[in-house]
Amino acid sequence: RPAIADTIAALRKRIQGYRNAGEKVALVPTMGALHAGHLALVKHGQKKAERVVVSIFVNPTQFAPTEDFSSYPRTFESDCAKLAEAKADLVWAPKAVTIMYPPDFSTHIAPSGPASVGLEDKFRPHFFGGVATVVSKLLLQNLPDFAIFGEKDFQQLRVVEKMVADLDIPVKIIGAPTVREKDGLAMSSRNVYLSEEHRAIAPLIHRTLRFCAEDIRAGTAVSKATEAGQKSLEQAGFAVDYLEARETESLKSVADKSDAKLRLLVAAKIGKTRLIDNIAV
Ligand code: PAJ
Repeated sequence: RPAIADTIAALRKRIQGYRNAGEKVALVPTMGALHAGHLALVKHGQKKAERVVVSIFVNPTQFAPTEDFSSYPRTFESDCAKLAEAKADLVWAPKAVTIMYPPDFSTHIAPSGPASVGLEDKFRPHFFGGVATVVSKLLLQNLPDFAIFGEKDFQQLRVVEKMVADLDIPVKIIGAPTVREKDGLAMSSRNVYLSEEHRAIAPLIHRTLRFCAEDIRAGTAVSKATEAGQKSLEQAGFAVDYLEARETESLKSVADKSDAKLRLLVAAKIGKTRLIDNIAV
């Protein structure tokens, strides 16, 4: 088992110990139910800093009342075993939700601008406010040198980068590539929800993104390529929330012809499970 801090005082004491020894600290924020994607972030952190802290907190403020907060997979013991194996130094696991959100909690960070407009925000309007609020708390609790986020949640990565820049939070945000199953499906804690039948078609999401990116590179208009991609997902039985190209850095919307580097982002439901993915064009 790695060391575990479950109160803010215990966390600060551990981190002060690292600081006193002159060690740099990388933070990997997670909601647990850890898989190889999360562990790749730990590895990334270890390249940057002597100490890697992994936070495990299922953050209620980023779930709508209709979403899966109460059923979100909670696997603390096996998470700790994986983190021991990965040689993470410390797990920050607040022992009660009230440590993060006391009953009189009164502050909310509300991202705005192109990175937080549309895409996920259109379908989960509560989401980025909840993420920005909890991530700012995690950064201030840990005061790490680096914080590692997965490109799997590409819009989240951009929203966090913008928040940190706007609020002058002294941390370097690092994006790490998406870890995939052999068949291309992006690893996700929510993949456990997939039935066998739905699991079999889930890799179509990644395959469609790749076809779509190829079409755009070959000169197809962006809107034509994304519409075709959306149609083929729908024919396979997905309910597509969006399949859209954005400018990679700013996440600004793009016209059909763009000189900017593009990123394709998708969210689609199979049955009750909502999956997201993205790739570079
Ligand atoms: P969670 O979904 O647990 O993801 C934690 C981190 O792991 C995120 O940075 C996410 O992008 C990354 N990640 C997930 N799947 C990945 C994959 N297949 N490859 C690479 N990285 C992957 O994202 C959250 O938690 C929360 O919103 C959080 C940032 C912790 C705030 O509550």
